[in-house]
Amino acid sequence: MIETRKLTKRYGDLIAVNEINLSLAAGDVFGFIGPNGSGKTTTMRMIATLLDPDYGEAYVCGKSIYGNSREVRRLIGYMPDAFGVYEDMTVMEYLEFFAAAFRIDGPARRKRCEECLELVDMSFKRDAYVNQLSRGQTQRIGLARTLLHEPEVLLLDEPASGLDPRARIEIRRLLRRLGELKKTVIVSSHILPELADVCTRVGMIEKGNLLVDGDVREVMRKARESITLQIRVKETEPGTSRTEAAAKLLEQADEARSVTIADDGTIDVSLKPGVEDYTAIPQSLLEAGFAPTLFREEEVNLETAFMELTKGVQQ
Ligand SMILES: Nc1ncnc2c1ncn2[C@@H]1O[C@H](COP(=O)(O)OP(=O)(O)OP(=O)(O)O)[C@@H](O)[C@H]1O
Ligand SMILES: [Mg+2]
Repeated sequence: MIETRKLTKRYGDLIAVNEINLSLAAGDVFGFIGPNGSGKTTTMRMIATLLDPDYGEAYVCGKSIYGNSREVRRLIGYMPDAFGVYEDMTVMEYLEFFAAAFRIDGPARRKRCEECLELVDMSFKRDAYVNQLSRGQTQRIGLARTLLHEPEVLLLDEPASGLDPRARIEIRRLLRRLGELKKTVIVSSHILPELADVCTRVGMIEKGNLLVDGDVREVMRKARESITLQIRVKETEPGTSRTEAAAKLLEQADEARSVTIADDGTIDVSLKPGVEDYTAIPQSLLEAGFAPTLFREEEVNLETAFMELTKGVQQ
């Protein structure tokens, strides 16, 4: 649905976007993560046909961005990071104005505007003036506007900036829903954990270079040196520390590199680098008569992953 090949943009000596290759399918929600000035907006603007690349190609639903800008724009819902609002227009007038530009006419127009307002939870401001909305409300109306023509592809440039925690959760819900509707979504952010649980894929960009691109779990896996297991065992009799006994046993495991007990009684087992299969560990606990109440891989924070993966790539 979105494909880029060596997409490149230069500003004088500065390479804002450097040979970016992306391939996203329907239902993919791609988290585009990178610090300020890394090239996120530039990349999205090129895909949206709003900016000409210096080199490379981009296709939206199989249509090249060169020579098909009308069709490509029809397929895309682009939400810029900042957009102008029109004075003396109510929310409904504003949306109807854009719906008309997309040639949504007759009773369908009003209906579609109502649906989009509902989707962003702003129906109650239908008659308010757009220039009197709060920043977060303006952001939501911007998102409603982006969805009006039922685009297949959504390019959302930091849709969550300026939103309160509740609205952020709603945006995440909306992103998930767009994925379920088989839309292809690129959503940018520098707030990393924000995207971790809604994106099916994540890409990290720095200084115009796409450093990693892949499944969220895969990226996290790459970022960590080794797996850490978190284990808790049931304390049967007071005074006999089963936890300590279990930790001693775990230290003997071939897969384990180090074992520590946290304050809350969780045993952290850091595995040797490269070890992926640790099925023998729960087995040995059970065989030794321990009753595990918790057994899981420690989650890798996306922020830590990012810092890890982008370490030392300053040009
Ligand atoms: N019109 C322009 N002229 C010159 N340089 C530009 C222009 N637009 C962008 N740049 C430069 O290109 C680089 C990438 O900018 P871009 O806006 O794509 O970053 P971004 O990742 O969206 O950052 P942010 O997180 O701050 O929104 C920056 O170094 C920026 O200064
Ligand atoms: Mg930007």
